Amino acid sequence: MDIKSLDLFSQEFHQNPYDYYSKIRPHQPFAKVKMFNEGEQHSWMAFTYEAAVAVLKDQRFIKDMRSVFPDVTDENLPPISQSMLFVDPPDHRRLRSLVQSGFTPKRIARLRGRIEEIAREQAWLMRNKGTVDFIEEYAFPIPIRVICELLGIPSEDRLDFQRWSNVMVEMSDNSIYDEAMIEFMAYLEKVIEKKRVSPKEDLLSDLIQAEEGGDRLTVSELYGVVMLLIVAGHETTVNLIANGLLALLTHPAQLALLKEDHTLVALAIEELLRFNGPVEFSTDRWAKESFTFMGQKVEKGDHVIVSLASADHDPSAFTDPSILDITREKSPHLAFGKGIHYCLGAPLARLEGEIALRVLLEEYPCLSLAVELNELEWRQSLIIRGLKQLPIKLY
Ligand code: HEM
Repeated sequence: MDIKSLDLFSQEFHQNPYDYYSKIRPHQPFAKVKMFNEGEQHSWMAFTYEAAVAVLKDQRFIKDMRSVFPDVTDENLPPISQSMLFVDPPDHRRLRSLVQSGFTPKRIARLRGRIEEIAREQAWLMRNKGTVDFIEEYAFPIPIRVICELLGIPSEDRLDFQRWSNVMVEMSDNSIYDEAMIEFMAYLEKVIEKKRVSPKEDLLSDLIQAEEGGDRLTVSELYGVVMLLIVAGHETTVNLIANGLLALLTHPAQLALLKEDHTLVALAIEELLRFNGPVEFSTDRWAKESFTFMGQKVEKGDHVIVSLASADHDPSAFTDPSILDITREKSPHLAFGKGIHYCLGAPLARLEGEIALRVLLEEYPCLSLAVELNELEWRQSLIIRGLKQLPIKLY
């Protein structure tokens, strides 16, 4: 396949990107692709597992634009760019360490009971409805309610979070983006000020305390980390649950296996992350200097991203990658990334995914797709792989 004809924004591509990747990967492990529909911006993309891991671990591909583009300053970057995901060491280490202790597998395991309650409640709320948009009614509310409770902010405002996050991960006009950021910031300002006056036992109160301490977190970094946790905390897991269900509904033998034996759910989640994971592409990286990488001449300032989805379907890393096998053991998938920016929320996402899927199958063992597969529409995003809606019949 001629890589020049790859249109990352077409519905054809989104319907089955894995087909496109399998044609590109053997000839172009690391290659330049056209990024946007308009303009001529080309970026490097890693397609093979080997190239993906190499990019994610190579410290010459940096995250902070300010280090390569002197005209980019704090003022013209959104606050989320001051969060751990968009900076390099030593700031990265400092920012990550402030929240890391709240996301260890041990701390997250304590949330099991509460996540189960939330999933059960959301499942019951669908009870009298025959057909639902699974994303709106189940996949979306669970992770957003959990992250709001962890942070200690009201989850009633979740539709606003959804709107702001959508703008951040989808391709939006600059004016729409700017407007959403102003609203998001104004909202956070109110919530943070309230919390300063009456702190509670939650993550936001801890972060405010770190900021007030003065030397560990600046005000804009505080906004950045809260934004990152809200966006990363739900855009991703929503689509793990929804893409995961779609993969199972389209592979009835695998679904039957899981229904028969719910103890397979943890393994199933790993396979669903690999097979149709929610984060299709890594976030942006930039070449800090000019150098030769995988036989290609990369110039200082070049934009680089990794197709995690392509890497996770690379036959050199996975046997029969196009087969969904929920009993696949020891999957070294890259759905949570690799290297220093490896997903902080992975233990939480795994637990939410497991519980959401198990509770769903317990409450609704007969569910099915309510539309034809080719009627499903995928969102236009250069990060997330997710559906606009997933209509399902519950009974
Ligand atoms: C299935 C769900 C999720 C997936 C597939 C996922 C995937 C990822 C990936 C691929 C990265 C690295 C991006 C890169 O290197 O460019 C990342 C980073 C991150 N994720 Fe997740 N994520 C998920 C859920 C979550 C949740 C629930 C949270 C938090 C509550 C979270 C918080 C973060 C944070 C803070 C980072 C930045 C880490 C750093 O820069 O050190 N994620 N995630």
